Order: sequence, then C-alpha cells, then structure tokens
Amino acid sequence: MDAHTIIENEAKYIAPTYTRPEIVFSHGDGVYVYDTEGKQYLDMTAGIAVVSIGHSDPDWVAAVTAQAGKLTHVSNLYHTAPAVELAQRLVESSFADKVYFCNSGAEANEGAIKFARKYQYMHGRPEKREIVYFSGAFHGRTMGALAVTPREKYQKPFKPLMPQTKMGVYNDVSSAEALIDGTTCAVIVEPIQGEGGIVPATQAFITRLRQLCDQHDAVLIFDEVQCGVGRSGTLWAHEAYSVQPDIMSLAKPLANGLPIGTTLVNEKIAKCIQPGDHASTFAGGAVVCAGANVVFDKVNDPVLLAHVRQMGEVLHDLLASKLPSEKVVEIRGRGLIMGVELTEAAAPIVAKAREQGVLLVGAGLNVLRFVPPLTIDEAQLSHAVDVIAASMA
Ligand SMILES: Cc1ncc(COP(=O)(O)O)c(C=O)c1O
Repeated sequence: MDAHTIIENEAKYIAPTYTRPEIVFSHGDGVYVYDTEGKQYLDMTAGIAVVSIGHSDPDWVAAVTAQAGKLTHVSNLYHTAPAVELAQRLVESSFADKVYFCNSGAEANEGAIKFARKYQYMHGRPEKREIVYFSGAFHGRTMGALAVTPREKYQKPFKPLMPQTKMGVYNDVSSAEALIDGTTCAVIVEPIQGEGGIVPATQAFITRLRQLCDQHDAVLIFDEVQCGVGRSGTLWAHEAYSVQPDIMSLAKPLANGLPIGTTLVNEKIAKCIQPGDHASTFAGGAVVCAGANVVFDKVNDPVLLAHVRQMGEVLHDLLASKLPSEKVVEIRGRGLIMGVELTEAAAPIVAKAREQGVLLVGAGLNVLRFVPPLTIDEAQLSHAVDVIAASMA
C-alpha cells in the first residue's frame, strides 16, 4: 500500500483520536527512522521517550525473535521465565521488593492507586481514600489516572472520574503541607514532569512529600513512566533526591517499544496484595519481557548512564548557545529528558524541523521536548540543534 492510500484508509478505519503529519514510517535503525519514500529522520522523540536503546537494536531483535519463536503467551495462569527474570532485575536495582506487571503507563498508575488503597484498607482505614496529585501532572488517560491528570481538555468530556482526589501546586511545599493529612491515602508525583513541560521537582518538595507521607502514613508514589529507566542519567530519576517512594510506576522505555508497564512496590505495600486484587491477561508476557531484559541490561550500565549525563550536558550547552536567546524562556531537565520553554508556540518549529528531517515533540503549548534514544552522540545532537535553530529563525 502506498503512503497516500495508508493515510486515506486510516481516516476511514481508525478512530480519530490522533492528529498526525502526512508521513508514513516504514523502518528504523539506531537514532534514525525512515519513511516510505526513503527519507531519513533523526529521531529526537524516540516514540515519546520509549525507544531508549535505539530502533531495531540487534540484541533486542534477537531476544524478541527467539522468544516469539519459542513461546508467546500462556496467560497469567502459568509461570514463565522472562517475567521473573525481569522482576528480579527491577527489584535488585531499586527500592522495591515486588513488581506487578501490566501493559502501559496509565495501567501502572491504576495499579499504584489500587495498591495504595488496598494498603489503607488492610490497615483498617477504608475511609483514608484521598489521592493527592499536582498541577502540571500527567499520569494517563484511564479513569483513575485521568482523575489525577489536571487538564480540562482531557477530563471534561469524560466526567465523573475517580472521586476523592485533591490537587496541590507542583514544587510548592506549603501547598503540599495544606493538603496532605489524615485523610490522604496516597500522593502521586513525577520526579521530573514530562508532558507538563519537563519540570524537575525541587529537592525541598520531594523531601517534604516523603516527610508528610511518613507523618500521615500515606503512600508515596513516584511516576517514572517518562523520566525513569536511565533517561535522566541515573537509573531512577528519584536517585537524584536520595528519597525513596513506596510505589513507583514505569512503562514507556522498558521494552523499547513493546507494550509494558510495571508497578514496583516496597514490602509494606507488597504484604497487602493478594491473588485477585489486580490482573491483566497480557501482563508480563514472555516476548515483551524478553525484550525488556535486554533493555534493562543495556541501560543499567554505568558507561551508558555516564553517556546520558554527558550528552545531557552537551545538549544543554548546544541549546543555550545556538537557539536565539530572545525566544528562550528557560532550558530545563536532566540527562536526556530536556525541555526548552519558548516565548512562542512549539508546534510550528516541530513542523519545520520535521521537514528538515528532525523529529521533535512539544510538551504543552510552548515547550520543545528532547527525549532521544539514550545512545545518541554529540554530532547527532549538534545536527538536531542546528536544524531547530534554523527552524526558529
Ligand atoms: C509520567 C507519565 N505517566 C503516565 C503516562 C501514561 O502512559 P501511557 O501512555 O503508556 O498510558 C505518561 C505518558 O505520557 C507519562 O508521561
């Protein structure tokens, strides 16, 4: 099928929840993707912070292909090795004692909310239900995750959402102090907000959230769906704060593009989870987890993590020196999750850069977001920033 027919048939057959440019991608290799006309694009988006080890990584392809040829699915009625191997890797490299597998970021947060509520329930506090979240947050589009994602456009047509939620102001300690009390079941926060415009939490904010949760026996949930798994230059974004959550949600990059989500929990939460509390047919599937094991080993490598930190500094310097300073409000982020807040809308610049073969995505209205494969090098970053600078001129 040619590109024109694919685009026409998409409009005919696929529900219109997305607006897409008139390009059809056919394949990818490392930090590049190619359209059906053979045009090459430098991928500064990585499928929105997903393809961390690059497109078609040969080790990932080999592991996924081998597993697909052996066993794909038996459901969660039975044991399989790849999920257990992945869970062991996650637990041994984090604060967590147990892992629940699912299929997406929103689902990982649904699991987090359910496990937090179960924790309070098992401690004889079924009325302790409030979930505190923060301005600018994005936790997903299912009814629970959406209830803690304060965007009028996303929420309004679908109300009523999950009740008993309260919003505080991100990075505002006194706002958190005013909201977190004996009624609080859990507090959910992104250590670095992604969709909200690449906004890192302050140390004071994260430290105070941990104290308040301890004081009121509320569950602290870190949503690292976008900022976790090496993207910020440490394996977990929260390492930078030396503060640990009770629950952490992960998804996007973990299987390099295959659908996966995980809810990691510490022992006090794990003790409250029983068979039947939560489940998903596809979760922890053998093929997805075989791919994720390769991703995890490649990302959880001090050399790769040092590379991410170094490339983050390079990208920051390039953005600061090459973009027209009168149009830049702020450059934010750590490692390879970086955003440039502009004085103007990001969308026209994203479109111009795409014409010049650089894929970008905005965050909010006026932030250019940079979440490329973690394997990107200095020359590639430099080329991307040159194209963006020209697109802004
Ligand atoms: C921080 C964060 N949480 C949750 C989600 C939802 O993930 P998914 O789209 O896989 O449901 C996203 C997606 O952008 C995200 O950035």
